[in-house]
Amino acid sequence: MTRIAILASGSGSNAEKIMEFFKNSTKAKIALIASNKSDAFVLERAKKFGVPSLTFSKKELDSGILLEKLLTEKIDWVILAGFLLKIPAELIRAFPERMVNIHPALLPSYGGKGMYGHHVHEAVKAAGETQTGITIHLVNEHYDEGKIVFQAATPLVPEDTPETIAAKVHELEHRYFPEVIDSLL
Ligand code: GRF
Repeated sequence: MTRIAILASGSGSNAEKIMEFFKNSTKAKIALIASNKSDAFVLERAKKFGVPSLTFSKKELDSGILLEKLLTEKIDWVILAGFLLKIPAELIRAFPERMVNIHPALLPSYGGKGMYGHHVHEAVKAAGETQTGITIHLVNEHYDEGKIVFQAATPLVPEDTPETIAAKVHELEHRYFPEVIDSLL
């Protein structure tokens, strides 16, 4: 049974959809939810699904303590679902082609430093884009530049605001992220 860990820093609506998708799976198990924020709502969502969770500090992330826990838990895949810290190269190297991230835009546009959450949607709005979307990619040491495995787009209208853009993007994420992960395993 493939064992999956999800790293998340915030609300965890993507993590919830993934736990929902795999809850009766015979192929893979969401074995751990790990967050760098002890008050992240994703931890409540883990409780609801009976998935073990843990919190870690940036120091534990950077010093390899989180990696040790993932190896002890025999984790096979690491999913980043709204995880906002830089993943240390050592951790990326421990999961070659086995670490997946979701970005709320059509990379390579609107990626890179500072491009997360509402900043992305504000930039898309400011640029007057007629579409936006999601990118699911493998994580390498250059972060948003890993191999793209899936993209989906949604049209935008002039009346869209960063908030309505975010809602359209979340809808795509919730619809596609779980099954794209499943197809990668
Ligand atoms: C999503 O928009 C995702 O693309 C980005 O962070 C957000 C996480 O949202 N990486 P949630 O915590 O899953 O609700």
